[in-house]
Amino acid sequence: MNDLSPPSLLPPSASASTDALRDPRGRPLRDLRISVTDRCNFRCTYCMPREVFDENHLFMARSELLSFEEILRLARIFADLGVRKIRLTGGEPLLRRGVERLIEALATIPGIDLALTTNGSLLTKKARILRDAGLNRITVSLDAIDETVFHRMTDAKFTAAQVLEGIAAAEAAGFPALKVNTVVKRGVNDGELLALARQFRNTPHILRFIEFMDVGASNGWQMAEVVPSAEVLRRIGAEYPLDPLEPNASGEVAQRWRYRDGAGEIGVISSVTRAFCADCSRLRLSTEGKLYTCLFASEGYDMRAPLRGAEDDRKLRQRIVGLWQSRTDRYSELRTGQTVALRNGRIEMSYIGG
Ligand code: GTP
Ligand code: 5AD
Ligand code: SF4
Ligand code: SF4
Repeated sequence: MNDLSPPSLLPPSASASTDALRDPRGRPLRDLRISVTDRCNFRCTYCMPREVFDENHLFMARSELLSFEEILRLARIFADLGVRKIRLTGGEPLLRRGVERLIEALATIPGIDLALTTNGSLLTKKARILRDAGLNRITVSLDAIDETVFHRMTDAKFTAAQVLEGIAAAEAAGFPALKVNTVVKRGVNDGELLALARQFRNTPHILRFIEFMDVGASNGWQMAEVVPSAEVLRRIGAEYPLDPLEPNASGEVAQRWRYRDGAGEIGVISSVTRAFCADCSRLRLSTEGKLYTCLFASEGYDMRAPLRGAEDDRKLRQRIVGLWQSRTDRYSELRTGQTVALRNGRIEMSYIGG
């Protein structure tokens, strides 16, 4: 910088040093998840049960959503604060009209790993467009191979075969190995563990089994329906022996395992039986511009009013710094029968994304 350069409007950048912004528990802010719609074309029983998300359910009006310009402005500030990964979620993010334009814009921010979580239903149509827009990675949800079980989990008119075609389309479009997320519910899809494992053995894709969580207030969660990851590993390992792998990065939610015969890698996400709050580096931005410091929060921190109230970037940045620096969340570590009973008012996964 020479003497004639204008003074920066921003305080010294967190990303300029190796230290990211840290919360009082020392957890860095690294991962931003942006929900771009609260709508979905599936009705997964663990996320948007049809009894609650029926034709009378009020989804958000267009005027309430953050615009792409507003999202981009916040994303730039986050990147400057040390965020290294941005994941677009929903609802189903591919239902947001023109989402590829948002991806194109976000892909111009240097140093960001740009990912998206989808139910896969629209991937055959959209995979190429998403890749061309600059998306780096895709995670697809798939809860069963058997169509009857798939329908029991997702309660939609789409099929598992269509999701598999979507995965093939993503491969063809040049995406690297995908992650495939399976939420396991006892008595519903736990008979599909081996079929899913077989489907992705000898492919580069990483299948991850997720413990069904008590997120939101509508999915009727009960501990009896959770299949602990230890059991998943025992059942798969009995057929295909597994060995543990080292974590790829700190803050990673999945524990990694490899097939001993070299057929690839799987993961388990154990937020119920083995909480990973200790290094939770994730912040979530809702469709209407509220920030949530935990998946299990009831209250968000509104950024839309300040954004639309013409606050400058420095002020917006100060709000984020203040929020992260006062964050003490560790819900999964503290989960008890009582916290589960007190679910009213908690945000839904379809509102805030995975
Ligand atoms: P990458 O590392 O970027 O590939 O993604 P990820 O490993 O962070 O995983 P992803 O975003 O696909 O999350 C997978 C699932 O883990 C989610 O759908 C949730 O069920 C669960 N999960 C992710 N983040 C959290 C979290 O902060 N808290 C809890 N309790 N669960 C989480
Ligand atoms: N428990 C665990 N994961 C959930 N997801 C949604 N609801 C739940 C829940 N109750 C996750 C799944 C899905 C992603 C969109 O959100 O991983 O793939
Ligand atoms: Fe839709 Fe994903 Fe929720 Fe299923 S889990 S209802 S696909 S947002
Ligand atoms: Fe992070 Fe909250 Fe999940 Fe714990 S429960 S890992 S604090 S989002």
